[in-house]
Amino acid sequence: MASKRMALVALTALLGTMPTAGAVTLNVSTEGGNATSSIMYGLLYEDVYHSGDGGLYSELIQNRAFQGTSVNNNQGPYQTLQYWHTGGSDTLTLDNDAPLLTSALPWHMRVDVASDATGQTGFWNEGYWGMNVTTASTYNASFYIRGSYTGEMLAAFWSNTTNSMLGSTSFNVNQTEADGWVSYSQTFVPTYSGPDEKNTFHITFEGSNVAGGSIRFQMISVLSQSFNGSPNGLRMDLAEAVNELNGKYLRLPGGNNLEGIASPYRWKWNETIGPIITRPGRPGTWGYVNTDGLGLLEMMQWCLDMNLEPILAVWDGLYLDGEIVDEADLQPYIDDVLNELEFLTGPSTSEWGSKRASLGYSDPFTINYLEIGNEDFLNGGIPSYLAYRFSMFYDAVKNEYPNMKIISSIWAGYFTDSSLPVNVIQDLHDYLSADDMAAKFNGYDNAPRTYPVLVGEYAAIYDAQHTSPNQLDNPTLQSATSEAVYFLGLERNADLIVGISHGALIKSLHDEPDNVAMIKHSPTSIVRSMSYYAAKLFATNFGSETVEVTGDVAYGPLYWAATKNDSGTFFIKIVNYGGDSSTTVTVLVPGKTNVATLKTLSAPDMYSTNTLGDTQSIWTETQISVSEGGYSFTLSGAYIMAVLVV
Ligand SMILES: *[C@@H]1O[C@H](CO)[C@@H](O)[C@H](O)[C@H]1NC(C)=O
Ligand SMILES: *[C@@H]1O[C@H](CO)[C@@H](O)[C@H](O)[C@H]1NC(C)=O
Ligand SMILES: *[C@@H]1O[C@H](CO)[C@@H](O)[C@H](O)[C@H]1NC(C)=O
Ligand SMILES: *[C@@H]1O[C@H](CO)[C@@H](O)[C@H](O)[C@H]1NC(C)=O
Ligand SMILES: *[C@@H]1O[C@H](CO)[C@@H](O)[C@H](O)[C@H]1NC(C)=O
Ligand SMILES: *[C@@H]1O[C@H](CO)[C@@H](O)[C@H](O)[C@H]1NC(C)=O
Ligand SMILES: *[C@@H]1O[C@H](CO)[C@@H](O)[C@H](O)[C@H]1NC(C)=O
Ligand SMILES: *[C@@H]1O[C@H](CO)[C@@H](O)[C@H](O)[C@H]1NC(C)=O
Repeated sequence: MASKRMALVALTALLGTMPTAGAVTLNVSTEGGNATSSIMYGLLYEDVYHSGDGGLYSELIQNRAFQGTSVNNNQGPYQTLQYWHTGGSDTLTLDNDAPLLTSALPWHMRVDVASDATGQTGFWNEGYWGMNVTTASTYNASFYIRGSYTGEMLAAFWSNTTNSMLGSTSFNVNQTEADGWVSYSQTFVPTYSGPDEKNTFHITFEGSNVAGGSIRFQMISVLSQSFNGSPNGLRMDLAEAVNELNGKYLRLPGGNNLEGIASPYRWKWNETIGPIITRPGRPGTWGYVNTDGLGLLEMMQWCLDMNLEPILAVWDGLYLDGEIVDEADLQPYIDDVLNELEFLTGPSTSEWGSKRASLGYSDPFTINYLEIGNEDFLNGGIPSYLAYRFSMFYDAVKNEYPNMKIISSIWAGYFTDSSLPVNVIQDLHDYLSADDMAAKFNGYDNAPRTYPVLVGEYAAIYDAQHTSPNQLDNPTLQSATSEAVYFLGLERNADLIVGISHGALIKSLHDEPDNVAMIKHSPTSIVRSMSYYAAKLFATNFGSETVEVTGDVAYGPLYWAATKNDSGTFFIKIVNYGGDSSTTVTVLVPGKTNVATLKTLSAPDMYSTNTLGDTQSIWTETQISVSEGGYSFTLSGAYIMAVLVV
């Protein structure tokens, strides 16, 4: 037995490297089919693993307002000097001595200067694992101080690697304690770019001018130049990468981060708006404080800047630790959602609409999609969701906004009493192995059509080499290809599918290197993963109607689907998931004679990944002329994704 098995293993290994050739002919119907969703390929954003703070949000200072701590999974004392260091003869102390700058920020940093101080003294901040300091960006440095000081204050970037100053801006300060809190802000461009990410931000002043005394600091912020120049906006390189995905919707603000790790730490929309000094922040779900600098209006501005349809998720009475709000106590949270909707969509004459207008957005936003909660199938949420939570939010929102499309965060099949109103969209999350992902190609073919489907989160998170969930550190060619097969299954069921978004848009390489994401980042670099390119290939080549495609072989391991857009361009997608190492493809598109473009995505090996400084994905675009027999080309590789644009 043993030797027979050995032989089989050896044969399998041999077959794995032996080139095999296949062929397929695809006959594309020119008749239109079902309309596709106008928001098919979208994005999910929540602050997870520093996707927002220390990521997409353009703030460089970590702990700018002395909020939060990493102690005890973020549940410890809610103030800290973490990430700040003295840079001279002064000592740094947390203080809550009145008057405060705002009640939202109860703790500030008191800088006590030695009585014999001479020369420059001050303090510095580490940033989020460093900072991107470049002459290509303008930076906006700002802070508030209380105390008596007359003289110059210097704000400067330093390189920790070369121990030299990279650039600075000087503030003229002349104030006394009686002036209370005074704000300062200045923009500047550094003289030198940092050689790497190990850069810090320093504030220094003349110690002898304060000898034996103190100056208090609050909200010390440095924003890099933002995407589209939007105020309090998005980090340029990450935002550009996100924009290139050509997403059509933004599901916000989560994700588990909406829910909160425990009472009362749910995401509260009203505490993420207004001047940043009025935002208290909160312990986030993912082990670090959220500044809420990237708040509700910043997310809406993001939608405007990238032409994204917002899918607004609202908190519905379930905390992640399983605490559930009773039916009798739920109304205030429903009122809170109605207030949020008035804030976003109401006329500027309404109570909350006027608040929005006062913050610079006189035009109401449009909210067409609202999701009640997030993953209410977890943490014991199902019984109360079925009994009263879903229906109470649904009824209240529909009463005021009858045309709003409502999304259930659980599968429609849980509503065994059929109480779920027809056309409610079900948000189904799929975190699967690569093989299970690919196996879902026909998963929706025979699904009931009563409740449309949003795949609000997906990712292939393990494979044959990483055998339990989340073991995959980075998407591989194989895992991304499995996601592409999954996309094909959704495109073929366009009459049912509303949209799809990856479960992890952005993660920090420093915070979470060991878990898949579309994009990973450090302060000075970003990595676009295989999954990123797969989603980009599919989202940038998508039509408004499905078209029938007939193949002369059965589906699997080669899969296909096609759409056509309003100007008659066809997008024929073909994915090889572990089949022949070379496939001759012939595509017939009756009536078409134009030169087509073939776009392919592959990599040298099924386990190839994109990592920092090592991009293994290969994206090609070639022109294909028509011949008597149609459009013919060869797809090389057992794992490859392709789109023929005709
Ligand atoms: C392709 O399909 C069309 C119908 O859509 C059919 O008329 C035609 O004969 C088919 N061509 C081939 C080569 O199978
Ligand atoms: C349109 O949807 C119906 C119902 O799901 C399906 O049977 C049909 O194959 C679809 N047509 C195309 C062209 O996708
Ligand atoms: C700066 O470099 C020193 C010495 O290499 C190191 O101990 C320190 O942690 C670094 N600080 C930052 C913020 O990178
Ligand atoms: C710089 O930031 C401060 C504080 O957020 C803000 O008031 C000011 O308008 C900003 N300046 C510029 C030029 O963007
Ligand atoms: C600081 O302000 C005070 C009061 O306005 C003024 O008398 C004094 O000249 C100022 N000092 C400097 C150095 O500007
Ligand atoms: C935000 O709204 C909640 C009610 O949902 C309320 O408890 C809280 O005090 C509000 N926060 C502020 C700063 O007004
Ligand atoms: C750093 O910031 C600049 C300006 O925002 C941006 O262009 C650049 O892509 C960022 N990243 C790197 C790798 O320096
Ligand atoms: C159809 O797709 C082609 C190729 O991507 C594009 O140039 C054209 O603008 C699209 N038409 C519409 C209506 O989207």
